[in-house]
Amino acid sequence: MKKIAFTLMAVLLVILTGCNNQSVRHATDEPFRSVYHHSPEANWMNDPNGMFFDEATATWHLYYQYYPEATVWGPMHWAHSTSKDLIHWEHQPVAIYPDSLGTIFSGSIVIDRNNTAGFGENAIIAIYTQSEICGQHQSIAYSQDGGLTFTKYEGNPVLKGDIADFRDPKVFRDEQADCWTMILACQQEVRFYQSKDLKSWELASRFGAEYGCHGGVWECPDLVKLSDKWVLILNINPGGPFGGSATQYFVGNWDGKTFTCIDDPEETKWLDYGKDHYATVTWHNAPDNRCVAIGWMSNWQYANVVPTQAFRSQNTIARDLSLYTDDKGEIRVAVVPSPENDALLGKKITRPADACVIDLELSGTETSVITLSNSKGEKVIMTLDVHAHTFAMDRTAAGDCSFSQDFAAVTVAPLFNKHDTHHVTLFIDHCSIEAFGTNGEWAMTNLVFPSSPYNHIDVQGGKATIYDVK
Ligand code: FRU
Repeated sequence: MKKIAFTLMAVLLVILTGCNNQSVRHATDEPFRSVYHHSPEANWMNDPNGMFFDEATATWHLYYQYYPEATVWGPMHWAHSTSKDLIHWEHQPVAIYPDSLGTIFSGSIVIDRNNTAGFGENAIIAIYTQSEICGQHQSIAYSQDGGLTFTKYEGNPVLKGDIADFRDPKVFRDEQADCWTMILACQQEVRFYQSKDLKSWELASRFGAEYGCHGGVWECPDLVKLSDKWVLILNINPGGPFGGSATQYFVGNWDGKTFTCIDDPEETKWLDYGKDHYATVTWHNAPDNRCVAIGWMSNWQYANVVPTQAFRSQNTIARDLSLYTDDKGEIRVAVVPSPENDALLGKKITRPADACVIDLELSGTETSVITLSNSKGEKVIMTLDVHAHTFAMDRTAAGDCSFSQDFAAVTVAPLFNKHDTHHVTLFIDHCSIEAFGTNGEWAMTNLVFPSSPYNHIDVQGGKATIYDVK
């Protein structure tokens, strides 16, 4: 009798598992699944969207571009995850679904403390692009349950597009002027719109024609105040320094209506010198006035074909942005791992592991070469060249590069400052390496797909301290 019941249960289990494809696709144990980076449970993800910090519950909210039906890009939704520490992420139900006005492209969230939009005090308001065949428009939706579910405004869209690429609204509040400013990517420039109520918007100014890189479409802009300057973050695709997607930025001033860049128009400043750092934007309402950014860790050149199975793409670790002045007097953005990432560091270990953090102390007078390798002969070679003043990461033999001719690459960051000792920190996860230079003076993010983890390190010209990841 017992045996029959057991067999019946087993048959039932097989039938249920067979019917429910999702349970198979939710597998979290595939080799390239990141262990401490945010990734979707299953299916496709691109840009991080609408991040905000809720101080009442001390929760970091992260929404993202998501296609729930496949592991390739498709009709976009906003999916949602939350975290207490920027490391462990809990998946929440999809927050915003496509509707008759279009699919739901990238955008931002603000907390409307004074009920300027009329959806209630402290309403959480999402401002996003609706994309349809006839164009791109901006819409809004509000949440009264802490960002879990959203009600779309019946007057959508609130800003109609007049050109093909008219998207990715990032909104911030100017308390002094008592207004909201929206920065919008419009082909190869940004436009600033302003509003009292998030519903009716007036064009205030434009920026971009004479500055920066114009090798592709400008997307996902952001404007943040760092010290006494304003920094305009601007993602571009294609046109990145190593092909495809990348994030440039401009340093300048903001007078409440207009952004004036103080950079040399001849130079493009990059927020990250790797191939896999895109759609980077910052958290609204981050604590202690911090500027906390996160980027999509992939590149449109090959994001749809990378060799993961149940899901595609992961985000970078969270990074804090600030300003520094380089040896030549140029103001630049410093990018450091957000302090929350310190909690990752476990005990010191003697060999690299599939997930680990490596602190490198490298000579300021002789060139250092760091090689990470595995028993299959796959390797990543990093060179800090004190004569050329560069840090390079060569992933041409790092593992699987076969899925795209654009993947094998050597990426190079300029070292803007001289140091007696250069400090480089490497955050290594199952398919990524993020390198941060001394004091965050440069950052470099690259995917790698080794057939087994790199378990050997060789350092010429310096020393490595390796930490297990908790
Ligand atoms: C950037 C981007 C955005 C757009 C979204 C669509 O990666 O192209 O401009 O809103 O992705 O998924």
